[in-house]
Amino acid sequence: MTITLPIEGQVLTCPSILVDRQIDKDRLSLDAGYTAITDGTVMQCGLFITFEGPEGSGKSTQARRLYERLQAAGYPVILTREPGGTRIGEWIRRILLDLRHTEMAPTTEILLFSAARSQLVSELIRPYLATGGIVVCDRYADSTLAYQGYGLGRDLNELRAITEVATGGLKPDITFYLNIDVEVGLQRKRASRERSEGASGQVAEWNRLDARDLAYHQRVARGFAELIKQEPERWHALDAAQSVDELAEQIWQVVSPRLVGITPIVAR
Ligand code: TYD
Repeated sequence: MTITLPIEGQVLTCPSILVDRQIDKDRLSLDAGYTAITDGTVMQCGLFITFEGPEGSGKSTQARRLYERLQAAGYPVILTREPGGTRIGEWIRRILLDLRHTEMAPTTEILLFSAARSQLVSELIRPYLATGGIVVCDRYADSTLAYQGYGLGRDLNELRAITEVATGGLKPDITFYLNIDVEVGLQRKRASRERSEGASGQVAEWNRLDARDLAYHQRVARGFAELIKQEPERWHALDAAQSVDELAEQIWQVVSPRLVGITPIVAR
């Protein structure tokens, strides 16, 4: 389905229309070219899905499973991650996660996460959503609120303002939270590092942020719980202790009804 919408003298072509909801006109930026206002209604193309959770929650596995299922069903979909996802973002990721960078100031950390995000949104996410595609992203701006806000104790309003600049106000349509006990998750991540060290001699990623203390990770988890309470319609919190298949199925049950306006590339 192709729908053409007139917006402020321009014409925006959307391959599909997925969401329309009432919003505050003044808070919307039109620079992305994928949202259009008609009488206070936002028409949004594509579907933006993010995964969040503590370390070792298995969210990267689930993000990939969802991506593969959507792709197999013929939907236009990309899988990306934060920090990273672009050439510039992957460089920034190395700086952020490097265990040697113990001197990194909290503001530097926030700005680097935000710089990587800004690049990802403008280079990949917005253009892909504008074509009516689905973006699956492993972590996004909620991680900054949880990790740098609740974890490091930085001002949440300040972080929201920085995030607004970095993303131009782009928010996910659906966010999955894979809930796992913080200690169990960290243990899982450590164990997978040891397994891969033993098997191949390669060190799995145990990064500068994983290495923060347990109390930090617990504050992060409480932060996520708070964020979920604030926007229950966007978040879907799932129990990450279930099997990979069970979780993948629950995620599919949430996503599949939202695919209505998205046109598969391949007819099956
Ligand atoms: P990664 O190895 O990708 O961990 P995970 O698999 O848990 O996502 O490392 C990313 C780390 O960066 C992770 O500890 C969460 C942290 N992070 C922040 O602190 N702030 C952010 O804004 C983002 C996106 C990630």
